[in-house]
Amino acid sequence: MSSRFQNFYFDRVYTLAYDLTVGQLPAYQRLQSSSLARVSIFFGCEVLVVGSGTGNELLGLLQRPGGPFVSLTAVNLSRRSLVMASRKARRQGKAVEALQMNAERLAFADGRFDRILCLHTMDFLADPATATREMLRVLRKGGEFIISYPSGDGIGGVAAVAVGSVLEKLRRGRLTGALKEALASVGAAVAYASLALSVKPQRQIYSRPALERLMASLEISDYELEEDDIYRDFIVWGRR
Ligand SMILES: C[S@@+](CC[C@H](N)C(=O)[O-])C[C@H]1O[C@@H](n2cnc3c(N)ncnc32)[C@H](O)[C@@H]1O
Repeated sequence: MSSRFQNFYFDRVYTLAYDLTVGQLPAYQRLQSSSLARVSIFFGCEVLVVGSGTGNELLGLLQRPGGPFVSLTAVNLSRRSLVMASRKARRQGKAVEALQMNAERLAFADGRFDRILCLHTMDFLADPATATREMLRVLRKGGEFIISYPSGDGIGGVAAVAVGSVLEKLRRGRLTGALKEALASVGAAVAYASLALSVKPQRQIYSRPALERLMASLEISDYELEEDDIYRDFIVWGRR
């Protein structure tokens, strides 16, 4: 996908639709909170969020015990999403250093951060291996990371679960909940559709052995890897 189209798309479509669509899906919310819980934080810890989107990881971190006392840096290609993310954090009384930057070329010194988070972003990168190398370069030795990689067609998995969940809500007579989830799912599919179509030809889908090779090539041995079979993502977390 050309980076001009990508910038336009993320700025003008995806970012504006994200919280009303994808952000409302229970599968997304569950995966976000379980992923955030896999990384520890401490007073004064320097956290970098790569592909920070509309700021949901930032909010998740701030809501954790000690969260308000971490130092937050967010990078994203989309300027508009950086504005949204900073605004969300500011409403919680937290300033974020928000920088427009490509995940494949991080303009930070080696070992600058204590923690790195990168969720649902590798799907959109031309070169996820380079981005992974960059993130681990700017993570200090012993620092913790969590990164997700696509393991398949997440749209299909999320759609199947959403249909089941909407039907279950209808069966229980929860009409408003069912309608809300149905609208969010359709919206997410529409927001993703043009992006998915343009990304698909070059989108890199990972297998477990491919990720193990990637981690080995970057000399990372202290990590765990789990597949989320609804979102179709591998979640890799560990220490440098
Ligand atoms: C699906 S959103 C995920 C947002 C957030 N991490 C979350 O899980 O809610 C993907 C984000 O990656 C950003 N992005 C895409 N390509 C990027 C790149 N090359 N460098 C940095 N950010 C990028 C997009 O602007 C978008 O905000």
